[in-house]
Amino acid sequence: MLKNLGLQCCGSDLSPRMIALAREHLRGKQVALKTADFRKLSDAWSENFDLIVCMTTSFPHMLTDREALTALKSMYRQLNKGGILVIDNGITDALLNSKPKVIAARVSSGRAFYYILGYPSPKRIVVTVLQVKKTQTSFKPIFYTTHYRAMQKSSFEGYFGRTRFQTVGYFGDYAFSQYSVSKSNRLIIVAQK
Ligand SMILES: C[S@@+](CC[C@H](N)C(=O)[O-])C[C@H]1O[C@@H](n2cnc3c(N)ncnc32)[C@H](O)[C@@H]1O
Repeated sequence: MLKNLGLQCCGSDLSPRMIALAREHLRGKQVALKTADFRKLSDAWSENFDLIVCMTTSFPHMLTDREALTALKSMYRQLNKGGILVIDNGITDALLNSKPKVIAARVSSGRAFYYILGYPSPKRIVVTVLQVKKTQTSFKPIFYTTHYRAMQKSSFEGYFGRTRFQTVGYFGDYAFSQYSVSKSNRLIIVAQK
């Protein structure tokens, strides 16, 4: 989307498989892609950026406060002065308060996704994705499980308080609606260096 808006873009992910997938999706477009850890962005990128977007439910892979802070500092370093960091956290206060056990997430081109959620401790959320894939004659289930840190708005207030970002805003959607702890189903953070 950013590339289509005419911006010069680069992308990275810790997983070589995700980078291979991105490469497939971006075939024919000039977007530099690298396997990299966002806690150590400067190991992969020599350039600085005007915008860094940490995509949906990537940041909560940071399972400790220390890791989260290391990641924020790495992103801060990689921004130009006045540059903007966007984190789409994926996990929200409303989700953590209501603790649903199953979310029927989406159906698309022969696949259905269900999220099965566990809350083993106040700071942890375990998400098992059940993907049901339609085959020619039947249905094939695929499961995978990921552990996330249960990050709330207050978690980010703590992290950002320990960085040098100039401003930090919290939104409930990409129309910049103010984030509601009780209602928002997205937690989008926009911070400026
Ligand atoms: C829920 S997926 C989001 C995938 C994709 N970016 C999107 O929005 O469709 C979370 C991604 O975060 C990546 N990730 C987790 N820890 C990371 C880290 N330390 N550095 C870079 N990427 C990381 C995972 O490999 C995974 O691809």
